[in-house]
Amino acid sequence: MLPTIPATLIPGDGIGPEIVDATLAALDALGAPFQWDRQVAGLEGVKLAGDPLPRAAIDSIRRTRLALKGPLETPSGGGYRSSNVRLREEFKLYANLRPARTLIPGGRYDNIDLVVVRENLEGLYIGHEHYIEIDDDPHAVAMATGINTRQGSRRILEFAFAHAVATGRKKVAIVHKANIMKALTGIFLETGLELYERKYKGQFVLETVIIDACAMKLVLNPWQFDTLVTTNLFGDILSDLVAGLVGGLGMTPGANIGADAAIFEAVHGSAPDIAGKGIANPTAILLASAMMLEHCKLPDLALRLRTALDETLNIDKARTGDLGGHTSTADFTRALVKRISNG
Ligand code: NAI
Repeated sequence: MLPTIPATLIPGDGIGPEIVDATLAALDALGAPFQWDRQVAGLEGVKLAGDPLPRAAIDSIRRTRLALKGPLETPSGGGYRSSNVRLREEFKLYANLRPARTLIPGGRYDNIDLVVVRENLEGLYIGHEHYIEIDDDPHAVAMATGINTRQGSRRILEFAFAHAVATGRKKVAIVHKANIMKALTGIFLETGLELYERKYKGQFVLETVIIDACAMKLVLNPWQFDTLVTTNLFGDILSDLVAGLVGGLGMTPGANIGADAAIFEAVHGSAPDIAGKGIANPTAILLASAMMLEHCKLPDLALRLRTALDETLNIDKARTGDLGGHTSTADFTRALVKRISNG
């Protein structure tokens, strides 16, 4: 028997509970030793505890340092800040790790195996914004301040480089815009080059690429890249671009990793347009749970889950509507659990 691992579970909003149920069924079939502490956040948090990020959820993650989270909606109105951004800040989740791998062959792009490492706490995302009023226009001028620090840059670059070495990656590209934002993204580039020279030289090939060229190159020939590491806003955009290369948001997991905790989730949101219809694709959050198993040093269970997912999608051809199929979430889950149990 594996020792139990306490972990926080936040089913989330919209399709969250449906895809989280599918994930729990798969993890149960695997015998994954998580001991869940169920919490609410997002709209559910507002409804049940008057806060999209209730104290109890924060306390739970502080205790377990590990969470699986469904998508959270930030209520419009009421002046609420995004629960996702608050979680990142609360637990200093500085690294956002988003792998994108082709799971279903024969699409527009085949054999994609990319990792985007996004800085999660700094840059233009910190939200220091304001307007300047001129004459009778209160929004005559809009201003935003981006902040990147040497320490924050070094921390995420170190994470990306160490991850590349640990997972046998051959190349890392630092993505920047230092030709124009010489200070804001120059510090990131400079810190990366210095860290590579000092500590990682020879362990993988380091490249540097300007964000706009990177976007074009990813569309023309994504296979030329391996791991991409970049600042917050560029990482936000690139990771969705890369999700598009492997069949869309339903297929891409994300991990938010920091000094104080690790939170695993799907990249997509709560999909209110299909919530409650039983047709959501649970693959992204299932892949997030595989990353969680790897994080907890249970690579064998993660591999069994990944293999069963591959078989469910490609041998059983169980596919939800977003993948062009007709399988319901429940039937997909049944097929996956059967594969895990027979595997
Ligand atoms: P979304 O990702 O929820 O949906 C975009 C489109 O993709 C929709 O047509 C949806 O049906 C489809 N889709 C997404 N996931 C799917 C899945 N697993 N299976 C099948 N189809 C899927 O993005 P949207 O509509 O912009 O956001 C909805 C809400 O989610 C917003 O309140 C937003 O703030 C929140 N959100 C939360 C995130 C998180 O908690 N990490 C991330 C992104 C958005």
